Amino acid sequence: VTNRTFTMIKPDAVEDGHTGAILEKITASGFRIVALKKTQMTTADAEEFYAIHKERPFFGELVEFMTRGPIVAAVLEKENAVADFRTLIGSTNPAEAAEGTIRKQFAKSVGENAVHGSDSDENAAIESAFHFSGREMF
Ligand code: CMP
Repeated sequence: VTNRTFTMIKPDAVEDGHTGAILEKITASGFRIVALKKTQMTTADAEEFYAIHKERPFFGELVEFMTRGPIVAAVLEKENAVADFRTLIGSTNPAEAAEGTIRKQFAKSVGENAVHGSDSDENAAIESAFHFSGREMF
C-alpha cells in the first residue's frame, strides 16, 4: 500500500551542505515529495516533538542539537514508505548503518545522525501534522 512518512534533514547535515544530496537520494529511491520546508525548531517544539524520549539521558543533548540550526522537513509518499524509508536511512548509529544508506554516508554519530524517519504510520501522521498544515501537503 502507498503511504506516507515524515523526515527531517537534521541541523548537522543542513550545516554541512548535504540537503540537496540527501533529497536527491530520497527521490532517486522512489519517494515523492508531498511537502517540503526549511525551518528551525524552537526548544518548545523539540521538547514536544521528542516528548517520548523525555526520560532518556540524552534528551537535553537531543533538544540542544535539534534546535541549533535549521532543519529541512518533508512528507514523503511511496509504496511501503515508513519501512522503506527506514531502510534507506540506516541504523541510528552510523557505525552500524549499512553501506549505501543515508546515515552511512552523512551521519557523524548516534546523536548527529543526519536524518529522521518516522517509525510507524501513526507517528508519520502525527509528525507530519506537527510541521505542516493540510494546505502545505500536495
Ligand atoms: P532518531 O532515531 O531520529 O530520533 C531520536 C534521536 O535521539 C535519534 O535519532 C538520535 O538523534 C538521538 N539519540 C538516540 N540515541 C542517542 C544517544 N545515545 N545519544 C545521543 N543522542 C541519541
